[in-house]
Amino acid sequence: MTNAIKLAVAGVGNNISALYQGASYYARMRETGEMEKVAFGIRMQEIGDIHVSNIEFVAAYDVLPSKVGKPFSEAVFAESNNYPILDVDPTPYSFLVKQGVTKNSADSDFAIATIAKSLRDAGAEVLLYSLPTGLQWAAEAYAKAALQAGVAFVNCTPESIARNPDLRRQFEEAGVPCVGDDLASHLGASILHRSLLNLLGTRGITLASSYQLNFGGNEDFRNLRDHGASKAESKINALKQAGLDTDKVQVIPSAGHINRLNDHKVAIINIEGVGWVGRPVSLDLKLKVQDSSNAAGVIIDHIRITALAQRQKMGGFPLAAATCLKSPAIGHDSYTPEELDLSLRKLTGAEEILAEQ
Ligand SMILES: NC(=O)c1ccc[n+]([C@@H]2O[C@H](COP(=O)([O-])OP(=O)(O)OC[C@H]3O[C@@H](n4cnc5c(N)ncnc54)[C@H](O)[C@@H]3O)[C@@H](O)[C@H]2O)c1
Repeated sequence: MTNAIKLAVAGVGNNISALYQGASYYARMRETGEMEKVAFGIRMQEIGDIHVSNIEFVAAYDVLPSKVGKPFSEAVFAESNNYPILDVDPTPYSFLVKQGVTKNSADSDFAIATIAKSLRDAGAEVLLYSLPTGLQWAAEAYAKAALQAGVAFVNCTPESIARNPDLRRQFEEAGVPCVGDDLASHLGASILHRSLLNLLGTRGITLASSYQLNFGGNEDFRNLRDHGASKAESKINALKQAGLDTDKVQVIPSAGHINRLNDHKVAIINIEGVGWVGRPVSLDLKLKVQDSSNAAGVIIDHIRITALAQRQKMGGFPLAAATCLKSPAIGHDSYTPEELDLSLRKLTGAEEILAEQ
C-alpha cells in the first residue's frame, strides 16, 4: 500500500472494529473497481494523496484479557465488542495487542517510555486514542507517550488533550500534530441538534428549551451512563457554534444501556420554540444509527488530516479537523468556514497548486 498511514490504536473497541473492517471493505471495492461506480458512506475518497482504505495498523494497546496478547485481527472481534462482523475478507494483522497503561502505571515514566518505545519500534505515524470516556489520566499518559515518540495524536474522547493549552503547546513545540477533542460523529446527534438550533435562529423562532437524549446497546453507552460528565460538557460545546443560550439546553449522553440495541444508538432531540405572536413551535426528532460506523466515518478523516500534518511536520492542532470534533482545541466560534477550507487545502497541497497556476 503506497502512502498508507501507519496507525497505532489505544483501545481496541467498537470504533476500531468499524475502522478496521471499513478500511478492508473500501480496499476490496477499490481492487474490483467498484469504488469508481459507487462509494457510499464517506465524505472524501482521498484527502491529499491518501485514499480512504490506505491504513496500515501497526500497533495496538488494550487492558482486557480477551484482547491483550491476541493478534490484532482477532482482538477486534473479541468481547466486549459488538460491532457487526462484515463480509469483507479483512486484511490480516498478526502483531499482538500490547498491555496498555493502567491507573496504577499511568504516572510512571517507565510505563510511558515503554509505550513510546513500542510506537517508535512499530514505525507508527499516528496514535488514535479510543478508550472509554472519563479516563483523563489515561488520555494524558498516551498523549505523553505519543509526544515522546514524535507520533501524532488523535483524541476520539471528550478528555481534555488538544484543548489543554499546556499540552497543545508541547505538541506545537515538538512539531507533532494533536487532533481533538471528541469526535463529532458522521451524522450524529450533535451536528443534527446544532443544525436545527441554527435553523430556529435563522427563521426568527425563539428557543424556549431543548433536550437531547441518547441511548444504545454497546459498551460506550454502558460506560457513559455512569461516567458521562466529560461527554455531557463536550456535547454542549458542540452546540456552541449556534451562538445560543446553552442554559436552555439539556443533554444526556446515555439515558440508558439497552442490550437489544447492540451497536445501535438512538437519539431523541426535542426543541420547544416561540413563534409569531408567542405561539408555540414544537419539534421532536428520532435518529437511529450504527454507532461505531458513525464514529469510523469521521475517524478516517481525522487520521488522514493528522498524517498529512505529521508528514509536513506541522505541529499542534490542524484547523482542518475542527468541523468533525465536538470540542475542538480552539472552540467552534473562533474560525470561519473559509479558514477551515484554507487549512485543508494547505495540508493537501491544493493551495500550492492554485498558487502555481
Ligand atoms: N459514535 C461513536 O461511537 C463515538 C463518537 C464520539 C466519541 N466516541 C468515543 O470513542 C471512545 C471509544 O468508543 P468505543 O465505542 O470504541 O468504546 P469501547 O468501549 O468499545 O472500546 C474501548 C476500548 O478501550 C479499552 N481500554 C480500556 N481501558 C484501557 C486502557 N487503560 N488502555 C488501553 N485500552 C483500554 C477497552 O478494553 C476497550 O477495548 C469512547 O470514549 C466514545 O465515547 C465514540
